[in-house]
Amino acid sequence: MKLAIASDHGGFHLKNSILRLLASRKIEYVDLGVTSEDSVDYPDYAAQLAQKVGKGEVDGGILVCGTGIGMAITANKFKGVRAAVVTDPFTAQMSKEHNDANVIALGGRVLDEAKAGATVQAWLDAKFEGGRHERRLEKIAEIENKNFK
Ligand code: RB5
Repeated sequence: MKLAIASDHGGFHLKNSILRLLASRKIEYVDLGVTSEDSVDYPDYAAQLAQKVGKGEVDGGILVCGTGIGMAITANKFKGVRAAVVTDPFTAQMSKEHNDANVIALGGRVLDEAKAGATVQAWLDAKFEGGRHERRLEKIAEIENKNFK
């Protein structure tokens, strides 16, 4: 499994702690920035990551901004991307089991390091349940195909 990870300045510190977690789990990743706390525009970073996920260049992605919200809004503009704002291990687990979220977005101003770590691990360890959830994802894909060229 290979992941991409990106943040803006609001998520920079939390991203670094998630990088350590991924390394400790020997998960391969590409870090798309940022590399400092200098102020940037989160759509630039979310778009780079979502493009890679949408094209299948990586298996999934982790985005971190102040709240996770702006990153998720941006990532969901890309075909094939199902980005979920996750705030705890339960929402992270559900985002994979029910929604097959291939991107999670976390808030560096929302979660402390320990809770963010548990949240990321819950997403990594969960499996998409399929069944009735597959039908619902197919409906989302139909909507996407109709509305996005
Ligand atoms: C940046 O100040 C902040 O707006 C951004 O990190 C994020 O929270 C947006 O959703």
